[in-house]
Amino acid sequence: MKKSPIGIFDSGIGGLTIAHALKEKLPNENIIYFGDTEHLPYGEKSKTAIQNFSKKITQFLLDKNCKTIIIACNSASSVAYQSVKEIAGNTPVFNVIQPVIDEVVKQCSEYKIGVIGTKATIQSNSYEKKIKALCSSAKVLSLATPLLAPMIEEGFINEDISHTIIANYLSNKQLASIDHLILACTHYPLIHQEIKDYYKGSVKVIDSANIVVEHIANKLKKDNLLSNNIKTEHHFYVSNYTESFEKSAQFFFKEDLKLKEVKIWD
Ligand code: DGL
Repeated sequence: MKKSPIGIFDSGIGGLTIAHALKEKLPNENIIYFGDTEHLPYGEKSKTAIQNFSKKITQFLLDKNCKTIIIACNSASSVAYQSVKEIAGNTPVFNVIQPVIDEVVKQCSEYKIGVIGTKATIQSNSYEKKIKALCSSAKVLSLATPLLAPMIEEGFINEDISHTIIANYLSNKQLASIDHLILACTHYPLIHQEIKDYYKGSVKVIDSANIVVEHIANKLKKDNLLSNNIKTEHHFYVSNYTESFEKSAQFFFKEDLKLKEVKIWD
C-alpha cells in the first residue's frame, strides 16, 4: 500500500502545480495524474457535470491502485468532494480548500479575506461557508476571475497584458479592504509573485499549493502511508491530447513530461 501511487486530478493542467509541489516535498512518491482536458474549464460547468466527471476520474485512479486521491482543482473541491469520497470508500481523499482555510484562520480574528477563483468556485460559496464555520468574525469578499486561468495557460505571466488583467481584477471594489487574499484556483501559484508585487506587502497573499502539500504530507506520515521508493515513476493522463496541452503541462510541472490520452467515458 505504501508503495502505491498518489492519484491527483484536475480539470486540465492547473493541478500540475500541486503535483509539482508534492514531488518536491515527497520525492519518493509515484504520481498518477489525470487532467480532464476534454471537459475543461470546470469553472464554467454545472455542479452535476463536475460531480459526474470527478466520480469517473476517481474510479480510474482507484483502478490504478492509488493509495490516496487529491482533488487538485478548486472547482471540483468546491462541489464534488462528497461525491469523490463516496466513490473512494476507505481511500483517503484530499481537497485543496480545507487545509488553506485551516491555516488562514488558525488564529481567528476580524480578518477581511479576499477569495479569487473560477465562477464555479465562487458561486459555490464554499470558502465563505467553511471560513465562517471556523471563524464567524472574519469577513469573506469573493470575486470570480475567469480570465486568469486561460491567461496563464497561454503563458502570459509577468508581461504587460497579465499586469493589466490582474490589476483590473484586484482593483475591483469588492476586494478594496482585504487584508488576506486566497488564490482559490490551482492555476494561480504561477502568478503568486505577480499578485504579491501588485499589493507591495499590504495584503497577505496565501501560497495555497505549499499549504495543501504540507497538510497531505503530514497526514500520510501519520497514517503510515509514505513510501520509500528510491526509483519513482510518474504518469500523466489526459482525456484529450494536444501538443499545446503537453507544452503547457511542462510549464506547469516545471519538467519535461509526456501526456497519454485515455478514454474513460465510454
Ligand atoms: N484548475 C481549476 C480550478 O482550480 C481551474 C480551471 C478550470 O476552470 O477548469 O478551479
